Amino acid sequence: MAERPYIVGNWKMNGTRAMLSEARAIDRSSQRLMKVEVALAPPFTLIHAVHREVEQIGVGAQDCHAGEEGAHTGDISAGMALDAGAKFVILGHSERRQNHGETNTLIGQKTVAALAAGLRVILCCGETEETRDEGKAESFIARQLRASLPDSVENVEDVLTIAYEPIWAIGTGRTPTVEDIGAMHRSIRAVLVDLYGEEAAQGVRILYGGSVKPDNAKELLAADDVGGALVGGASLTAESFLGIVLAAAELQDQ
Ligand code: 13P
Repeated sequence: MAERPYIVGNWKMNGTRAMLSEARAIDRSSQRLMKVEVALAPPFTLIHAVHREVEQIGVGAQDCHAGEEGAHTGDISAGMALDAGAKFVILGHSERRQNHGETNTLIGQKTVAALAAGLRVILCCGETEETRDEGKAESFIARQLRASLPDSVENVEDVLTIAYEPIWAIGTGRTPTVEDIGAMHRSIRAVLVDLYGEEAAQGVRILYGGSVKPDNAKELLAADDVGGALVGGASLTAESFLGIVLAAAELQDQ
């Protein structure tokens, strides 16, 4: 695992102000687990409120527009997310690719815009079950990353995180084997080294996401080159999310 694992909760389209107590509880407990970096990405409507509630954990957005401002009804720019209290943004999630037709090119433009605005980026990639069954998962992910990552990023190790989320593992309770996760993360690392050079690329954390729960977190986080987790369903209550944070902390102690 990475020197300081990164555990990020993606609340997706869940959460009203009634859930602020969960964010508060996650924050309080995370203050005692400083060896783990913890963050939440609530829906846009809660970014500012969560930002005001918490002291320790990071707060981020789940998407942003590629433009700075203008006539884009319903969209939010990176600068606006930053202004609301976000420090990072999740980009290229498979649900946005599927539900909103987001392409690698658009995700690349959003990445550039987010970095320019001063947000850190968690860039998601992931293959379908069909692609995995065809034995093409690694080449597919490499293509996805090459088509959406900028050629050069200043301080890439500080501002970029990759999240590998196989689509067939999201919300299904199914996960790849630790061998498959390790192989994919090594393959992603090779793409990063090729793009950004050995030294910078080694500092970029690669998260695993897809059905991470308290009871499988330790095993998944111990897979080769896993720098943390991007958690959906299990991040919605403090109890289950903290179970994952604790698993990461315990692995650090081993
Ligand atoms: P689940 O943890 O619910 O499978 O979701 C994973 C995910 O999509 C996080 O971004």
